[in-house]
Amino acid sequence: MSKVIAVASQKGGVSKSTTCRNIATILAKEGFRVLAIDCDNQASLTDCFGIEKPDKLETTLYHLMMDVMNEKDLPPKESYIIESDGVDIIPSSIELSAIEISLVSTMSREYVLRTIIEEIRGDYDFIILDSAPSLGLMTLNVLAACDSVLIPATPEYLSVKRLELLLQTIMKLKRRINPKITFEGILLTMFDERTNLSKNMIDMVLEVYGEHIKVFDIKIPKSVKVGEANLQSKSIVDYMPTNKAAIAYQTLTKELIENGQN
Ligand SMILES: Nc1ncnc2c1ncn2[C@@H]1O[C@H](COP(=O)(O)OP(=O)(O)OP(=O)(O)O)[C@@H](O)[C@H]1O
Ligand SMILES: [Mg+2]
Repeated sequence: MSKVIAVASQKGGVSKSTTCRNIATILAKEGFRVLAIDCDNQASLTDCFGIEKPDKLETTLYHLMMDVMNEKDLPPKESYIIESDGVDIIPSSIELSAIEISLVSTMSREYVLRTIIEEIRGDYDFIILDSAPSLGLMTLNVLAACDSVLIPATPEYLSVKRLELLLQTIMKLKRRINPKITFEGILLTMFDERTNLSKNMIDMVLEVYGEHIKVFDIKIPKSVKVGEANLQSKSIVDYMPTNKAAIAYQTLTKELIENGQN
């Protein structure tokens, strides 16, 4: 059994890529077979894993999606998967920004990514999808291909407010495109327990969404070390295992493993 978890939010800078980087790494350390797919043309996840100059790579997610759209067979797995820290990665590059236009005129345009994943999911226990801060066709492909969605939100009013549109989009998609999709939960990131704003936002999230969607008890603290780890293309669990954010990501990942086995 494998599980495909998308980390999504159309709000920018809420820690989607950082969360993917860290949960993928921890899952691999726990002995799971993990694939991380960078579905954002900013290629932050690719970068976080230390894959340099992705625009020079022969095969990235863009090429695989174009192959599916052109009804070509996918190339052998070894030609496009890059391994880093025990995680298999399908990298992205700026070229992926051209995919939206190609998708518009494609039949079954929401299912292109899903076709790729179906071909390889048997090789993995967990597949983690990082998505762009938009609700464009590429993100719809991500939401159509996943089993569950993990939604990071920072404790700011706008970040929480914007969840509404994302949740509506997911519910619409559930009716028409991916009936099996579930919510992994809302994860508060860049959390600063010393501020009232952070505390008030937990109450707001619980009040507005808590009845329908799980809000993770564990929150990812704000820490400059997380930014430093990203800059050095390291996970926070390797960069500073005793850091609060590293410990929080460990706890979160344990919960994801438990959810995955239910
Ligand atoms: N827990 C944290 N504490 C401090 N800084 C963080 C934390 N998590 C992420 N950051 C920093 O915040 C910035 C945004 O993080 P990240 O790129 O993971 O967000 P994102 O949601 O993927 O952004 P985008 O929407 O652009 O894809 C980065 O500079 C990252 O290093
Ligand atoms: Mg990102």
